[in-house]
Amino acid sequence: MLGAPEVLQLNSNIMQAIGAKKVLDIGVFTGASSLSAALALPPEGKVHALDISEEYANIGKPFWEESGVADKIRLHIAPAAETLQKFVDGGEAGTFDYAFIDADKTSYDRYYELCLTLLRPGGVIAFDNTLLDGAVVDPSKDTPNTVAIRKLNEKLKDDQRINLSFLKIGDGLSLCFKK
Ligand SMILES: C[S@@+](CC[C@H](N)C(=O)[O-])C[C@H]1O[C@@H](n2cnc3c(N)ncnc32)[C@H](O)[C@@H]1O
Repeated sequence: MLGAPEVLQLNSNIMQAIGAKKVLDIGVFTGASSLSAALALPPEGKVHALDISEEYANIGKPFWEESGVADKIRLHIAPAAETLQKFVDGGEAGTFDYAFIDADKTSYDRYYELCLTLLRPGGVIAFDNTLLDGAVVDPSKDTPNTVAIRKLNEKLKDDQRINLSFLKIGDGLSLCFKK
């Protein structure tokens, strides 16, 4: 489940290019994407790391410490949609710079709408696994994950609120640049 190194590296480079300070990392697992984001941010930057379970994040925490960025990462343990909604309700709409979405695939569209609200114009949403190992273009594949990602890809293609780059790196990375 670990994010592909080339994907995490591209995320970091874009974060730095756009001067990101406030980042959403949705789907933490063992903390690699949170760590690479934190390393890309300036000292005052914050990564809000969202996961439903702390079990695997606990494996990553010592590495956050060792890298000197633990104070830049705030872990939120709850279903990610609830945490994102709390940010919206707390008046944080338009204040985030970057969101990396890499959690449960059937919720990607929900995360997209919440993240679009939370991002500033010029902010970026990155979706991991938008090729799903090729399943999205295989008509014989119809698992809930495949159907959800296929629908999302169709939606993003025509969404006038963003500019889209659909990249064939890792397992597919879709970059949505908020207008
Ligand atoms: C693919 S892994 C994340 C990998 C991580 N981004 C990285 O680069 O190493 C997916 C994570 O999403 C989390 N997850 C699944 N459903 C979730 C939900 N409803 N809310 C928050 N996190 C969820 C899982 O616990 C798991 O840690």
